[in-house]
Amino acid sequence: MSSTPCEKYPSVYLLPQTNQLKALMTMIRDRNTIRRDFVFYSDRVIRLLVEEALNHLPVVETTVITPTDSEFKGLAFRGQICGVSIMRAGESMEQGLRHVCTGVRIGKVLIQRDEATALPKLYYSKLPDDIAHRYVLLLDPMLATGGSAYEAINVLLKANVPQKHIIFINLVCSPEGIDYIVSNFPDIIIVTAEIDIGMDSRKYILPGLGDFGDRYFGTL
Ligand code: PRP
Ligand code: URA
Repeated sequence: MSSTPCEKYPSVYLLPQTNQLKALMTMIRDRNTIRRDFVFYSDRVIRLLVEEALNHLPVVETTVITPTDSEFKGLAFRGQICGVSIMRAGESMEQGLRHVCTGVRIGKVLIQRDEATALPKLYYSKLPDDIAHRYVLLLDPMLATGGSAYEAINVLLKANVPQKHIIFINLVCSPEGIDYIVSNFPDIIIVTAEIDIGMDSRKYILPGLGDFGDRYFGTL
């Protein structure tokens, strides 16, 4: 089963809402889930998201010869990729990407939300030199106001990455965050596991899962 575009946003792909995915997401949303399980179940969802994101890369037809001396007409990926994680929580998704794309190059953008205002601040970025010629899998588990993703995408655009080459991979997003990113960057593809209801007064996603970075890295 593969993702279909959301009715309202053709550039947003929601993972198939299978019972398996719902059970995994329930585990990571539960505030009583201990850190070891939070990491384990998050990693499983991340793997599903990365696999789905790869469906959005261009392919070309190719023919191989099988061990039975038969021709097989199949597909091969065209173009090179890299990952870019929005630190710190996005780093939790790097391993999932490495598991399916061995040797993948990974850039970093350090953006932190101010705890009082929820406004993002860009501290640092380091990207592969040839990023302008790559498809970029942008990694961040949470899309709340969209401010952090907006900053990170601008770093990529300044490095001459075309919008059409960016696939943003995310676990949970708010409708406000999607609106913000889609209206500013209509050509970017977003792959997400679940779209939530909204945000609270501190700009945490509702019902959400709390602070992903703190729960994943154990800094609660
Ligand atoms: C979290 C999350 C996103 C951002 C989402 O990071 O990982 O980067 O908030 O919120 P936004 O859409 O309103 O910008 P945070 O800045 O809390 O840092 P962390 O990764 O260290 O947890
Ligand atoms: N960052 C998180 O980790 N969780 C939220 O709900 C919002 C921003």
